[in-house]
Amino acid sequence: MAEPLKVVVTGAAGQIAYSLLFSVAKGDVFGPDQPLELLLLDITPMMEVLNGVVMELMDCAIPLVKNIVATDDPKVAFKDADAAFMVGAMPRKEGMERKDLLKANVRIFKAQGQAADQVAKKSIKIIVVGNPANTNACIMSKYAPSIPKANFTCMTRLDQNRAQAQIASKLGVSNGDVTNVIIWGNHSSTQFPDVAHASVNINGKKVTVPEAVKNDNYLKNEFIKTVQQRGAAVIKARKLSSAMSAAKAACDHMHDWFFGTKGNDFVSMGVISDGSYGIREGLMYSYPVRIKNKTWSIVQGLDINQFAREKMDATAAELTEELEAALAECEA
Ligand code: NAD
Ligand code: LMR
Repeated sequence: MAEPLKVVVTGAAGQIAYSLLFSVAKGDVFGPDQPLELLLLDITPMMEVLNGVVMELMDCAIPLVKNIVATDDPKVAFKDADAAFMVGAMPRKEGMERKDLLKANVRIFKAQGQAADQVAKKSIKIIVVGNPANTNACIMSKYAPSIPKANFTCMTRLDQNRAQAQIASKLGVSNGDVTNVIIWGNHSSTQFPDVAHASVNINGKKVTVPEAVKNDNYLKNEFIKTVQQRGAAVIKARKLSSAMSAAKAACDHMHDWFFGTKGNDFVSMGVISDGSYGIREGLMYSYPVRIKNKTWSIVQGLDINQFAREKMDATAAELTEELEAALAECEA
């Protein structure tokens, strides 16, 4: 059997982690033959709660789980880590935008970036979930200069899954029949869910989503707004931010990073921009990517019309503003 993979989950006593840990532990992400060491990080006042989570994980008696470490010390959690789910951060409440969390959360990612830089494997693969996810990922990478920038990503897979589910429901097809929906930009209300390059399988025939939906007005307005506002709608209804769906999306993202994308299909991930599609280099921007051998690459050559261009630039402008505010906060 392979050596255990060392997997960090931060915010391990919180609500997303409660769903995430079970899926990771039973092999949904790293495969049914990959033993795991789970490195669970939370803050000191949450250690008793975290201990309860550890008891439950033990009581699941999952054969893949070889060891569980619960700690409030990032250097213990990140020691020789292979993968990290960065969930630990404050969630927003009703009426807030995700960027309102910047002041409260960005320093967490500075400190944890510094810890990862010192003790994690240089090949560690990191997904940032804690909001504002794109900017936190950018900051974490900045403070972990010895780890390649390509190893830092942020989660927009929840937005992709939401968009896919809206289209599937509109067309009365299964979620799995909708592919290649793109999320461009920030995991925020300026994100651009784009179906211009997406396909749907209808009775065994592949057609583009715009052809199948036949309602440009819906795709340009209600659809985009529903996806952009879905996080807020869940908070309004549940009085808590999304957790089960967020955990599932984090698993999808990390699974695809490890196992690759299928054929010509692509998925969306927040990755460091290299200037593709005219987006400022160095922003953590959600792009369509293909993944092979645990390496992502941005899908090139997609046609971008005027409508898309404006939306892609608006979300990039918000990311620039967020990054400047975050850098000022970290340097203060
Ligand atoms: P939660 O409040 O239930 O849990 C957060 C946990 O993080 C808590 O246990 C808290 O003690 C811990 N924490 C706080 N500071 C920490 C630190 N410095 N180190 C380690 N742990 C720390 O929140 P949740 O619902 O699990 O959400 C977590 C984050 O994920 C929030 O920022 C939320 O907005 C974000 N989120 C992002 C997405 C996405 O699509 N990117 C989706 C859902 C939620
Ligand atoms: C989500 O998209 O559900 C999360 O980012 C939580 C939020 O604040 O919307």
